[in-house]
Amino acid sequence: MKAAGAATAAATIGAGAETAVAQDLPIPALVNRMSVREKAAQMIQPVIGSLDPTTESSHDNVETVGDIVGEIGAGSVLSGGAMPPTTDPEALVAGINELQEYAIENSPHGIPFFYGIDGTHGAAYVDGATALPQRHNMGATRDPDLIERAEEHTAAMIAATGIHETYAPTIELQRDPRWGRYFEGISESTKVLGDISRARNRALEGHDRVTATPKHFAGYEIPTNGNDRSAVNTSMRDLRETLLPPFEVTLAEGAGMVMVNSGSVNGVPAHVSQWLLTDLLRGEYGFEGVILTDWNDLYRLIGIHDLFPDTRAGKKMAVRAAIAAGVDMAMLGGGNEGRPLDPREFVTYVDELVESGDLTEQRIDASVRRILELKQDLGLFDDPYADESLVTDLVGNDESVATSTEIARESLVLLKNEPVTEGGDPVLPLAGDEDLLVTGPGVDPETGIENRILMQYGGWTLGWQGIEAGSLSEGGPRPAGDSMIAALRDHHDGAITHVPTDFDRTEWWQGEWHPEEGAPNHSSENGDYGFTDDQRSAVESAAPEADAVVVVIGEGPHNEGFGDRDSLELPETQREIIATVEAATDDETPIVAVEYAGSPRGNQESFGPLDAVLYAGQPATGGGTAIAETLLGAYNPSGRLGFSWPQQVGHGPLHHNAWPGNGHDPTYPYGHGLSYTTFEYANLSVSPATVDDPARETVTLGVDVTNTGDMAGEHVVEVYNTTAYGTVMHRDTRVVGYERVSLDPGETTRAEVEIDLAALEVVAGDVPGLGPKHVEATDYVLTVDPESDLSTTLTVTEPGSVLEGITPPDGSDTGPGQGRGPPRGRGNGRARGRRSSLIDRLAGRDP
Ligand code: BGC
Ligand code: BGC
Repeated sequence: MKAAGAATAAATIGAGAETAVAQDLPIPALVNRMSVREKAAQMIQPVIGSLDPTTESSHDNVETVGDIVGEIGAGSVLSGGAMPPTTDPEALVAGINELQEYAIENSPHGIPFFYGIDGTHGAAYVDGATALPQRHNMGATRDPDLIERAEEHTAAMIAATGIHETYAPTIELQRDPRWGRYFEGISESTKVLGDISRARNRALEGHDRVTATPKHFAGYEIPTNGNDRSAVNTSMRDLRETLLPPFEVTLAEGAGMVMVNSGSVNGVPAHVSQWLLTDLLRGEYGFEGVILTDWNDLYRLIGIHDLFPDTRAGKKMAVRAAIAAGVDMAMLGGGNEGRPLDPREFVTYVDELVESGDLTEQRIDASVRRILELKQDLGLFDDPYADESLVTDLVGNDESVATSTEIARESLVLLKNEPVTEGGDPVLPLAGDEDLLVTGPGVDPETGIENRILMQYGGWTLGWQGIEAGSLSEGGPRPAGDSMIAALRDHHDGAITHVPTDFDRTEWWQGEWHPEEGAPNHSSENGDYGFTDDQRSAVESAAPEADAVVVVIGEGPHNEGFGDRDSLELPETQREIIATVEAATDDETPIVAVEYAGSPRGNQESFGPLDAVLYAGQPATGGGTAIAETLLGAYNPSGRLGFSWPQQVGHGPLHHNAWPGNGHDPTYPYGHGLSYTTFEYANLSVSPATVDDPARETVTLGVDVTNTGDMAGEHVVEVYNTTAYGTVMHRDTRVVGYERVSLDPGETTRAEVEIDLAALEVVAGDVPGLGPKHVEATDYVLTVDPESDLSTTLTVTEPGSVLEGITPPDGSDTGPGQGRGPPRGRGNGRARGRRSSLIDRLAGRDP
């Protein structure tokens, strides 16, 4: 360990003759001693590619990494793409500590930096670490408590590897599967997204030396043409009803930072939106933390949004506009031959803008104060160094692997399970002693390395576009966990013949990278898939001998614009593999597909020959085990789709909580998910059945659930509002609560589900969507199964605002029933003037 506490840290900080002793000064006094350039330097977060101060920097006009943290004195640094300079956990924490020491000794005031990274599904950026199932898997569990527990380990890992900031939770609705970051969304339900994001944030913020960074604020996830970072056209009503509330509930508990949406919303880039960043985020949500840009996004105002000219003056205007709108810190990605802003440019522009009076020094001071306060909260002034002794025992430890595996189990969605002969049993679970043929991607055609784990873990895993950028090397870094085939070999008693087919995910960058528009047009299958003659013959000879065949289907890891897709069809070779298996087997041989994908790939037609389909998503560390156990019946599947599975890409965006009149039926609706047993509901009731003050009352729905089959199983009881007549349209279906129950065969339990009245809020008034957001006074039909007649009615007699009208979390009155515990973590919206009212601002009146 580098330094064992405050005493050593104090001896190190400010070692330089002229430097202030940062941690000895109250923050305002420290700010007073800083020049405008020094303050501006606190406001940058440049990427570094090495922890060695003597290495060349990846930024124009800056020679070395040491110059970034030393001479320039950057407030923060980052590693992008879940790829730190070293993936060795011990070396990472030691290297960050050494760089920190260099920074403290060589920067103007000896102020420590903080370090940011994408720990978006666990600390899946170091070798051997536990990777959590991807975000869309998390949504399928409807189990925020379990996810919170898992993220506590993530937080401990982040701190133990020397990192301070993770770019999570990702607060994105799953609306459009064409979008390359669809897998990072938790759910298409506002309620489920809000609950799980809040739980993740609470766990991350719960660690003293870690800050969460909820992102991307706001409206990022619905690019109108489906392409990452392309323009978003939305309505004030949709923003306020569905896109903003998950941020609002998450931020109500406090976060140290927020990352801004790279895109534009209704013609305004989020990075220059005063309304989003200042009126809403600070004013309404009371956010007092640090507002961070996304990767090179100040330059994006020029290169993509064409808001300013690509000149020196244009860049300066971009800096001014973003800071004026509310940005505190600029993430600087470097590279691209001088196009983005480099660290020195940013500092110079801020200096000039203050000099010319285009920005006030007080405005700069406000940002710097927030940044320094965050460092203080993170304990960096007390002890700038991470404890190096913790990481070894934490990396991939048994407990974290077990929790991740539990999430993986709960997240697998059984889409289809049919008998091979009429009246017979569905093909799953397998008996456990049959001779199995397992085929489907992947093996790397170049190297022969089995690379299916790329599909299992997805993007942001030891690499931006997947492990080792999709090109696995022998002995390269790997997250913790087993592959599906290894787990099957462990759990299955019969013989297994494995014929992996070609899968190449190394070419994701192919095509011309456009410096301004970003991702090129590329295969929208997220991988190149092959089925060689040898592989075909191997399948043809093994299939007739097999008692059952498991075919892996799906898509490779992907990320951002490289994941954008124009089609949701299964790749052609995968359909060929299915057809080959079908032709080589008799009708009695079960054909089971396991699908690894970050989007709803395939439809009734491509699934036609399959007797069963298990949608595994990207289940990560525990995925192999969870799949093997599920196929073999050691685990009874309980995941429920967090999104609607469209029949074809042209039917999207398709979501259960759309306004009525959508017209398309999904292949599998939101909430779909089969079990090996059956559950029946009875005696549905709601209490109280009448509510006079929706902002204050607690409502519970009760329902008897019986396991009517012959296998024990878990089941998520999800409560929907299906009908409500009001002054404006109410969404087709809204999730208002859910509860996971576990039942033995024949057992009955009474599920008590707390109803979140905030989920019923609508924005009143005409098209502009500026009316009050509230629960209307009307009758709400509640059900646990939209297909059944079982329903009950909740009557609200007086309108009331639950979310937008909420009192600050540290105020005396948080209102019962919203599950808001006492605020934890920092910056938790000492939310002044929350009631000062969004509505007034929306209507352009002074509050
Ligand atoms: C992504 C962010 C991410 C950042 C750093 C950006 O391109 O949009 O979500 O946190 O890179 O890797
Ligand atoms: C980084 C990503 C970033 C991307 C943007 C990559 O090199 O690792 O985090 O989002 O560049 O272009």
